[in-house]
Amino acid sequence: MSVGPQLFEDIDGVRAYVRKCQAAGESVGIVPTMGALHEGHLSLVRASTAATTRTVVTIFVNPTQFSPDEDLASYPRTLEADLNALSGLAVDAVFHPGPEEMYPDGDALIHVVPSVLDKNLCGLVRPGHFRGVCTVVAKLFNIIPADQAFFGRKDAQQAAILKRMANDLNFPIRINICPIVREADGLAMSSRNKYLNSDERMQAVALSRALAKGKQVIADGEQSSASVIKVMRDCLAEFVLVQPEYVSIVDFDTFVDAETIGPSCLAALAAQVGPARLIDNMQVNGVTGECEM
Ligand code: PAF
Repeated sequence: MSVGPQLFEDIDGVRAYVRKCQAAGESVGIVPTMGALHEGHLSLVRASTAATTRTVVTIFVNPTQFSPDEDLASYPRTLEADLNALSGLAVDAVFHPGPEEMYPDGDALIHVVPSVLDKNLCGLVRPGHFRGVCTVVAKLFNIIPADQAFFGRKDAQQAAILKRMANDLNFPIRINICPIVREADGLAMSSRNKYLNSDERMQAVALSRALAKGKQVIADGEQSSASVIKVMRDCLAEFVLVQPEYVSIVDFDTFVDAETIGPSCLAALAAQVGPARLIDNMQVNGVTGECEM
C-alpha cells in the first residue's frame, strides 16, 4: 500500500521537516502550486522526484496575486483530489497553509517587486500580480529552504521573473523551468480550464492554434512581428467565444516587444474564453527544442 505525502499546514512543521531531511544529507525539491492539480503540475512533480531525494508540493491559493476583480473566490480548491493525484508520485510532503498562516497581518508590509520584467504581457494587464507572485514565492523559499524549485513554462513571464528573483536576491536554489503540457488538441493545461463549458473548451484550442500558425509563417520566412501577430489575431478571430487580451512577440530575456523575429523570440498570448482567462506561449524562432530561460 502506498503511503501518501505528509500534510503540513503550519510553517514551523514543514520547515522542521525540510531541515531534518537536509541534515540527513537529502536534497529537497519544491513544487509551488495553487492546487487544482493537472498533468502539467504532475510533470513538475516528476521532474522534482527525478532530480531530488525529497519533494515538497505547496498548495496555496495566494490572495495577493489576485486583483479585486479577479477569480480569487471561485478559484478551484480541490485538496482531496490533489492529494489523490499526488499519491503514488513519491511526493514526501504537502504544505497547505491557510491565508492567516502565510499573511497573519492580512498582507505582507514588505513586498518583492519585479523591476522591469513585468512591464509587458500579464504584468501590464494584471498590475500587482507579479508582486504578489514574487512575494509569496520568496516566502515559500524561506519557509522551505529547498535545493531546487520547479515551475512550468506555460507561465513563461512568471518563470523568467522568478528565476531572476532567485538570482538577484541570492536564494541558494536552482530554478528549473519545465515544458508546457498540452491536451491532445493542443490546449495548454491550466487549472482555469475547469471553468470552460463544452463549447468554450472546444474553442479554447484557438490559443495554441494561433501560436502554431505564427510559428509556421515564421518558418516560411516572415520576419516582421507585426505581420506574424496579424496572422495570429486573424486565427483567434475565427473563434467567436475567444476574446483576445494580448497577442505579442517578445524577447524572452527581457519580455520587451520584438519588432523583428530574432533568435530569442517568444510568441505569447492571453484571451478570455467564457469565464476563463487563458494564456499560452510558444518559441517561434525556428530553433528546434525549447528556449533557454
Ligand atoms: O503558478 C502558480 O500556480 C502561482 O503563481 C505560484 C507560483 C504557485 C505562486 O502562487
